[in-house]
Amino acid sequence: MNIGPGRELGGVFDRVADAYDAGRPGYPDETYRAVRELSGVDLDGATAVDVGAGTGILTRALRARGARVVAVDPGAEMLARLSARSDGGRPEVVAVQGDGNALPVADGSADLVTYGQSWHWLDPAASIAEARRVLRPGGAIAACWNLRHAGQADWLAAYEARLAEEVPAYWGPAVEEWAVPPIAAAFEVVGERWIPWTRLIGIEQFLLDLRSHSYMAALSPEAADALVERQRAELRREFPEGVLSVPMRVYLAVGR
Ligand SMILES: C[S@@+](CC[C@H](N)C(=O)[O-])C[C@H]1O[C@@H](n2cnc3c(N)ncnc32)[C@H](O)[C@@H]1O
Repeated sequence: MNIGPGRELGGVFDRVADAYDAGRPGYPDETYRAVRELSGVDLDGATAVDVGAGTGILTRALRARGARVVAVDPGAEMLARLSARSDGGRPEVVAVQGDGNALPVADGSADLVTYGQSWHWLDPAASIAEARRVLRPGGAIAACWNLRHAGQADWLAAYEARLAEEVPAYWGPAVEEWAVPPIAAAFEVVGERWIPWTRLIGIEQFLLDLRSHSYMAALSPEAADALVERQRAELRREFPEGVLSVPMRVYLAVGR
């Protein structure tokens, strides 16, 4: 499995923080219901440590469901977007610049440790040892990834194929060895779910999502622009009204 270009802290996403903030999707409601059901942890009143919180997509959703969240990320630019959007909300979000392999959080202080689209950036053993350290008895780990479901639409399969063709660091459904990150093997998993959903999105926002990926940040600006232009032209030809209905699925693994 080839998942992500390396373990460099912070920098990769900081370069695409605005595109990330504007382009990436949230997780469907069913994700949070499944976390509750599989973990036994009620989000309302829970303390969650959201590791690799980025611009706060998962952080905000946890807070909206009543959790106090400690958001940890090494990326200063990503955390700046998270903080800008969290100001004034309740419960309070505490944003900490830090490393998921050495969490800046006290032992036994959390009910949930979450990884939204982030665990594959961490050391598999050190990160889970840290999660165990900061969890209270009865606490749980929840990791999820929001993935395009390329097999569900020909236009999306073609889009993925263009990515695989032009982006050396691309990882995803269009590469043969692709698989979800092996988190279920890293802890005692109590449940896994695949949650299908559909993302209705304008082409330009979809192209911002494209720009927000680490494999795009690894291209030269000229190559990234050329690829975005190629994808734009194909998508506009196929969807002249400018709106896409993107088949998605969330993979969720919960462990204790
Ligand atoms: C794909 S983003 C996910 C952001 C957010 N959780 C979401 O659901 O969209 C991955 C995040 O992991 C962060 N990251 C990379 N290495 C990390 C590490 N060692 N510890 C914690 N977070 C890390 C990156 O800075 C980035 O913000």
